[in-house]
Amino acid sequence: MSAEVRVSAPAKVNLHLGVGPPRGDGYHPLVTVFQAVALYDELTLRESRHTTLTVSGDGVDVDGVPVDDGNLVLRAVQALAEHHGRDDLTTAIHLRKRIPVAGGLAGGSADAAAALVGLDSLYDLHTGRQALTEIAAGLGSDVPFCIQGGSALGTGRGEQLAPLMTRGDYWWVVVPDQRGLSTPEVYAAYDDIHAHTSLPDPSPPTDILAALRVGDVERLGAHLHNDLQQAALSLRPDLEGVLQVGRAAGVYGALVSGSGPTVVLLCADPDHAAYVGEQVQEALGRGPNLVVKAPGHGAKVVGARQGGLFQ
Ligand code: C5P
Repeated sequence: MSAEVRVSAPAKVNLHLGVGPPRGDGYHPLVTVFQAVALYDELTLRESRHTTLTVSGDGVDVDGVPVDDGNLVLRAVQALAEHHGRDDLTTAIHLRKRIPVAGGLAGGSADAAAALVGLDSLYDLHTGRQALTEIAAGLGSDVPFCIQGGSALGTGRGEQLAPLMTRGDYWWVVVPDQRGLSTPEVYAAYDDIHAHTSLPDPSPPTDILAALRVGDVERLGAHLHNDLQQAALSLRPDLEGVLQVGRAAGVYGALVSGSGPTVVLLCADPDHAAYVGEQVQEALGRGPNLVVKAPGHGAKVVGARQGGLFQ
């Protein structure tokens, strides 16, 4: 039986997302604080004669997930094979999705990160950390963070990372939405909103960084900020209602995650999060919402077998 590895990779939330005016290459300069949450997609990679991708959903709708080159997983295989000059890394990949699709939680980036880490392990490629990060950044701005996990300050277009030491656990209620939002469309709406203003370059969010350092959840909640929120709300005004329901349930902070439409609610502790999850579910008449702990780990191998049982 062929060798196989199982890899998990995290969703992220942006505790702060400061967005500057578009650069020459169309990307926007960011200052962001990423936090990985314990909501993981899982990839199983097995040596095979051909590279294939199959997808299943674990509580999420995977209808919109491509299984061709439109999927970052297959682009990750290609990029890593090219880097090593190898054409024999043919792999059967199964993606089990738990992260809502097109939700602003970096689900596709998590899958690409898992593919890179998984292939590296399956074929003993020993790709250096820096090379892996560069390949990851070539696939998408959030992919390097999904490899790293934890909490980090992101600059550039989000791919340049400085890890952050934080204290304590953070509990989130993640409120997914059936209809995804396209990231480029949200950035385009952001540009439209600011077409006649001269935007300053974004600067580091000192309150958020200080709150994380000491584990002050209340202070963190008070300073959560997302420059893309207004743009996401302009495309999906109904999300305001979700934020209001969260606030009414007594959360420490409520915001649209990244480019949306997922809304994330910061809670005091697991009991509070369970209560908030119920309140939101009752008010919106849909669910279930996810209660997740943070910070989560980065993409990592969680099981491997050489032909026998998983270890
Ligand atoms: O880097 P990634 O491929 O994930 O970005 C998806 C899209 O989001 C880009 O094509 C761009 O439209 C937008 N984006 C941006 N500025 C960033 C990151 C993403 O404009 N810093």
